[in-house]
Amino acid sequence: MYFKKVRLKNYRNFSNLSIDLDSNLNIFIGNNAQGKTNLLEGLNLIIKGSSYRTKEDREAIKWNNESAYLFGEINKDDENIQIALALEKKSEDFYKNKLIKTIKINQNIQKKAVLNKEFKGVVFSPEHLQIIKGAPSLRRKFLDEQISQVYPLYYKYLSEYYRILGHRNNILKKEINQKKKKEKLLIWDPRLIERGSFLILTRIKFIKKINRLAYKFHQKITKEKENIKLTYQSNILKDQEENISSINKEFKDKLEEHREKEIEQRATLLGPHRDDFSVYINGFNIASYGSQGQLRTVVLSLKLSEVELIKEKEGVYPIFFLDDVMSELDEDRRHFLLGLIIDKKVQTFITSINLDYFNSNIKEKSRIFKIEEGKVTSP
Ligand SMILES: Nc1ncnc2c1ncn2[C@@H]1O[C@H](COP(=O)(O)OP(=O)(O)O)[C@@H](O)[C@H]1O
Ligand SMILES: [Mg+2]
Repeated sequence: MYFKKVRLKNYRNFSNLSIDLDSNLNIFIGNNAQGKTNLLEGLNLIIKGSSYRTKEDREAIKWNNESAYLFGEINKDDENIQIALALEKKSEDFYKNKLIKTIKINQNIQKKAVLNKEFKGVVFSPEHLQIIKGAPSLRRKFLDEQISQVYPLYYKYLSEYYRILGHRNNILKKEINQKKKKEKLLIWDPRLIERGSFLILTRIKFIKKINRLAYKFHQKITKEKENIKLTYQSNILKDQEENISSINKEFKDKLEEHREKEIEQRATLLGPHRDDFSVYINGFNIASYGSQGQLRTVVLSLKLSEVELIKEKEGVYPIFFLDDVMSELDEDRRHFLLGLIIDKKVQTFITSINLDYFNSNIKEKSRIFKIEEGKVTSP
């Protein structure tokens, strides 16, 4: 799957952009604040229907404009597909100043879900370095997004789980009558356990798969110097259980065990919404001991694994977005990464402030663009 061309109109700092893209490696060079990240965000927005940078679609509209239009032509299984995305501020009263987003695939209006089913992308952005050092919620978000992209059922269960959790927390917070409270909890518990156990099991299996792939990538990037290992930490299971009925049972036991404590603290204390995972390099927890370059390499190995997993599941490689990945990688690591992208022919968009990171062989095999104040040229 690859972009053949992209057109952006009044999107971020681009007034009018129209470029043809390479099916393999595209390099965007530019100084700070010229639009490199904006462009990657825009390409990804076309295939995802929403931005990985902001929840507010209207932020993507060029300042002092009322609408933005993004268009991409994508080749998938030798078929050319056109995706058009319109973001339009509606000032009429009827719309209550809302932003209207319209997605069209080959001229037909479609839901975002259709887009997400058809097109896959993997993004590396400097903010993702937070995955390792930041709060557990960031790691859960990372896991949930990765898994949802390959297993749509997971996304459904995840939303249901959070809905049930909301009901349950509401009861814990608001029901004053103690007897009623316990009765109501007992109604929601089986549903929480059922969805929750599925989430835990899927995450454990997913981590196992990622471990297998990430290990290989990480060995190669680091020239066999570093072993990577991820472990899932469930607050319910004692061991990494892979049997759904045992997970169900442990979940149920734990809820009963913590009943009084939950009532006292007025919140659901246990479940996948409080789980976490850790990454170890040569047996040491990278969150505490990793250098900047090591962290970056770890996130890169995880992203490469995601790319590979999508290929295993879908039969085609996703589109790969690498924002500012080069700066803290040493030459060996950069070389491995670029070699891999070219070997596997994954369409990749890579931004950098410096073209020196790319050797002549890579430059020959890629399309290079220069970005300056929202204008793109090919030198
Ligand atoms: N909605 C917008 N309209 C116009 N300009 C924008 C908008 N959003 C961001 N920008 C501009 O884009 C610049 C940042 O571009 P970015 O792609 O993040 O830079 P970089 O090339 O460093 O990755 C900011 O300096 C800002 O001026
Ligand atoms: Mg940037």
